[in-house]
Amino acid sequence: MTRKGILLAGGSGTRLYPATLSVSKQLLPLYDKPMIYYPLSVLMLAGIREIAVITTPNDAEQFRHLLGDGSQWGLQLDYIPQPSPDGLAQAYLLAEGWLGGAASAMILGDNIFFGQGLSQILGRASSSESGTVFGYQVREPKQYGVLGFDADGKVTSIVEKPANPASRFAVTGLYFLDGTAPERAHHVEPSERGELEITSLLESYLSDGQLSVERLGRGFAWLDTGTHDDLLDAANFVRALQARQGLQVGCPEEIAFQLGWIDSADLAMAAQRFDKNAYGRYLMTLLSGDNQMKYH
Ligand code: DAU
Repeated sequence: MTRKGILLAGGSGTRLYPATLSVSKQLLPLYDKPMIYYPLSVLMLAGIREIAVITTPNDAEQFRHLLGDGSQWGLQLDYIPQPSPDGLAQAYLLAEGWLGGAASAMILGDNIFFGQGLSQILGRASSSESGTVFGYQVREPKQYGVLGFDADGKVTSIVEKPANPASRFAVTGLYFLDGTAPERAHHVEPSERGELEITSLLESYLSDGQLSVERLGRGFAWLDTGTHDDLLDAANFVRALQARQGLQVGCPEEIAFQLGWIDSADLAMAAQRFDKNAYGRYLMTLLSGDNQMKYH
């Protein structure tokens, strides 16, 4: 069975009020494209084409308007509502029927990943039988799920927002899990803050010896979009890279084209749609072969 993707884009976005009073956080622009394009691109780079987008019932319409059925990128997108934000692990309960026993890769709709060799890392995680999560060193680990390691560097604990973090390695919002994830999620009890924590689900894998942690090194960017400042910093990061290299970060059309999921005619159609701006002109350069930097 092929691995399926889950793009988790619900939640209330209260930390970004008033910017998110009437629009979902994951639909806000991150520089030149909607935030959700970036995590969607990561699932695509992992070779995943069947993706469930989980949103609040209120926002579902707008996500559909933006992403459609995914066929413009050679994807198959389905939409699953999350009536209330009861925790990340709930996604596996909501998607249980849709997954139908398949392994999955879930990514949070507000997580931005960038770095050399990302495709290879994703490929490794995707072909692994056990679960894989990604650790990333941060200055302030307390606001994340935090990994603990033994003397040999083997992961021994995962704790959600610990007062005394065991390390500075946060668990990023990208989870490659096997087909048992929904069944395990049924056994997760709500935490003190009333949520089905992803870290509790990961603990179940860890205690069965079924969890690998891949550390993303210092050449990687895992960016936060939690506050207004984080959002602007992330946008500036994308702007600086794109301006310097003339390459897009998180461009679904480019990835779909490179992976052969869409052809030149599809790409030309997308380029025409955006021909008034730099994004459309960029897609044109892909068609003319001016831009040869490959993901693989
Ligand atoms: O970003 C990585 C961190 O994400 C991990 O290190 C933590 O272990 C994990 O719990 C999570 O922590 P956050 O505090 O960032 O979770 P937050 O509640 O902010 O939700 C993350 C995203 O998921 C956010 O964009 C909204 C969405 N979400 C959240 C919940 C609780 C949903 O779609 N549904 C939900 O029920």
